[in-house]
Amino acid sequence: SRRYNIALLPGDGIGPEVIAVAKDVLNFAASLEGIGFDYKEMPVGGAALDLTGVPLPDETLLAAKESDAILFGAIGGYKWDDNPKHLKPETGLLQLRKGLGVFANLRPATVFPQLVDASTLKREVAEGVDLMVVRELTGGIYFGQPRGFKTSENGEEIGFNTEVYAAQEIDRVARVAFNNARKRQGRVCSVDKANVLEASILWRKRVTAIAAEYPDVELSHMYVDNAAMQLIREPKQFDTILTNNIFGDILSDAASMITGSIGMLPSASLRESGPGLFEPIHGSAPDIAGQDKANPLATVLSAAMLLKYGLGEENAAKRIEAAVLDTLDKGFRTGDIYSAGCKRVGCKEMGEELLKSIESHKLAT
Ligand code: NAD
Ligand code: IPM
Ligand code: MN
Repeated sequence: SRRYNIALLPGDGIGPEVIAVAKDVLNFAASLEGIGFDYKEMPVGGAALDLTGVPLPDETLLAAKESDAILFGAIGGYKWDDNPKHLKPETGLLQLRKGLGVFANLRPATVFPQLVDASTLKREVAEGVDLMVVRELTGGIYFGQPRGFKTSENGEEIGFNTEVYAAQEIDRVARVAFNNARKRQGRVCSVDKANVLEASILWRKRVTAIAAEYPDVELSHMYVDNAAMQLIREPKQFDTILTNNIFGDILSDAASMITGSIGMLPSASLRESGPGLFEPIHGSAPDIAGQDKANPLATVLSAAMLLKYGLGEENAAKRIEAAVLDTLDKGFRTGDIYSAGCKRVGCKEMGEELLKSIESHKLAT
């Protein structure tokens, strides 16, 4: 039997609630494939601030680096919103991504047939959507220098950031997108703002150059404002969307709503080698935290991505994906994806139903 070390980082708000469900589902599905896990649960975000005074303690980063894969919940909350930048929960997540060097963030948006009615888009627009946002995760305006606050000559406060990309940062994430598209429909749409931004002009030039290595993949380019519109107008035109850090953040939240809820979207953050980071794309949802209302499926599907992309354990991943579909087939819905005639459940009960489904399909591969 195979054993893996998992760093478990629940974080804040609904993070611990969705992580508890995902951990149980991960354990059960993997056990049926002869896989066992050793967990190291570590504080991050607001929880770490309260405990240690920093949002990413050295011990947490070390445990993450030494693990085979990291399962992350969510961070943030009102309590820490007015903290200085270096003491914000969000800074802990950014330090974790940077510290691990996970530059490629895969965010699949798949409309499950059972959830077409949960989409805010018309059935014919939402049905069959299956796209993947490949978001650059360790560069761009999130990390660019110079940044900060200063005072202008006339005494006015100024806040400033820098959108910056080096050629090799673009090249490596572009290759991830092209390789990914090869396993999908073979189409990459690179999204930028090359009509205005120098960093985007370089982005478009490098992506075009890298495309030459992938003659079998079709490349198109789109400006980000148009891409936001096209996602709502006709999302099925997209297969793989390749984009920078901030555009990927925004477009993936928009894409999530096509699937019914932001509570459905998982992600995998990867580099060439070393442990991957797996997390839902949503935040700590302080408005529903502690009420057993959170949809755990984004985190459960992130655990499936952990098995598939992080550990190469595809069969165990398929067990989780099948359980999600089966549970949706049976009509179980958290509030965010509820529609008339379905069975409304909380976070925990959704988890119990997933376990029942895995149990009843025990003998399947
Ligand atoms: P959010 O994603 O936390 O919530 C947005 C809305 O979606 C809320 O109404 C929330 O209730 C709902 N929602 C989110 N996840 C859900 C789920 N699983 N099930 C049901 N409903 C869900 O975004 P926000 O409100 O802008 O941010 C809240 C906090 O989370 C902030 O501190 C923010 O910085 C942080 N945040 C963290 C991450 C992360 O940890 N990766 C991502 C985004 C935001
Ligand atoms: C996400 C979040 C983070 C981001 C924040 C919390 C730093 O919105 O994972 O999408 O902007 O990357
Ligand atoms: Mn986001």
